[in-house]
Amino acid sequence: MSLEFAQKTKRIPVYPVAAGYDLGADVAMLASNETPFTPLEPVVEAAKHALLGSNRYPDPAYMPLRQALCDRYRIPVERIALGAGSCDLILSAGDALLEPGAEVIYGWPAFSVYPHLAAASGARAIEVPLNGDAEHDLDAIAAEITVATRLVLICNPNNPTSTALPLEAITAFLEKVPAQVCVILDEAYVEFSLTVGDPYASLPLLDKYPNLVILRTFSKVYGLAALRVGYGLCGSDSFRVAVDQVRQPFYLTAAAQSAAVEALKYQDEVERRVVATVAARTAVTEALRNRGLWVAESDANFLWVRVADDGDDVPIVTGLRERGVVVRGGTALGGPGHVRVTLGTPVENQQFLDALAELLP
Ligand SMILES: Cc1ncc(COP(=O)(O)O)c(C=O)c1O
Repeated sequence: MSLEFAQKTKRIPVYPVAAGYDLGADVAMLASNETPFTPLEPVVEAAKHALLGSNRYPDPAYMPLRQALCDRYRIPVERIALGAGSCDLILSAGDALLEPGAEVIYGWPAFSVYPHLAAASGARAIEVPLNGDAEHDLDAIAAEITVATRLVLICNPNNPTSTALPLEAITAFLEKVPAQVCVILDEAYVEFSLTVGDPYASLPLLDKYPNLVILRTFSKVYGLAALRVGYGLCGSDSFRVAVDQVRQPFYLTAAAQSAAVEALKYQDEVERRVVATVAARTAVTEALRNRGLWVAESDANFLWVRVADDGDDVPIVTGLRERGVVVRGGTALGGPGHVRVTLGTPVENQQFLDALAELLP
């Protein structure tokens, strides 16, 4: 007899995890939009120091980290939600807001975790296709809002397509959203976005729209993906209270919190990483376009490249992997015929370009 699982377990799509963890160290891991920069020494030291107190549970209010975020972004601690990665906050938002009869709306393709929400809750998902430039169509998303809508997710810059919309467009959209509908503006890659401007640019929206949650992460530019720390800056405290209610009390380890607090102190390092990434983005985009390939206008630390007009990206993904370069195929991410490639070190980026040149001569 096999175990009898809930219907929702059968509905939940399996997250398309990146391949390559079993490959050797000389492989270019360009599949998960991480930064190639390792954590700074004091950040590692802060985590190590916290480990010494591991016999105790972590502070369940996570005050040092919430206070550090409050100091940086001038958002009251009551309106700062934390999660074991921003994924944790996305899933908790689904738990807290959705149920059968409710609706969740997002553009598609977007972050692969979003489809999990409707499947897990029994709510209806409305996936609104991106426009021809691989950008969100905010008018079309607004047109889908009904009395049943509880949650709208806008990924800006968008994963996997790398495009970003300006804040004027986001503001015009928020004007159309009823006050009882939660909008999550997923800004996992905001630090890399020249279109948005900087990580402060969207924050004034929180004063005007209490239904808004701006989602951020320490997994990308801060280089702490393995420690799992994300946060939500909220227009009101009700979102934080609700997501804390649906989760276990100790979701963030003490080591992760301490590392995040320390990492926030090194904004010059963040700036250095952004400058290096933007330079790589420009160079790799130009190299690909010079070879006649369509590349979306990237505002992130990755590129979205059309590699197969017939929609079959699998041979390219496999061929790259055989040449020691791991990227994500668009088929798994909702955009067949494309690959999503993370910008890595200069050597890794060149490895990708050389391997692709062999496959698409
Ligand atoms: C758009 C977007 N949001 C959220 C996340 C989740 O990041 P984490 O859970 O590591 O904070 C990712 C990760 O790739 C992402 O691409």
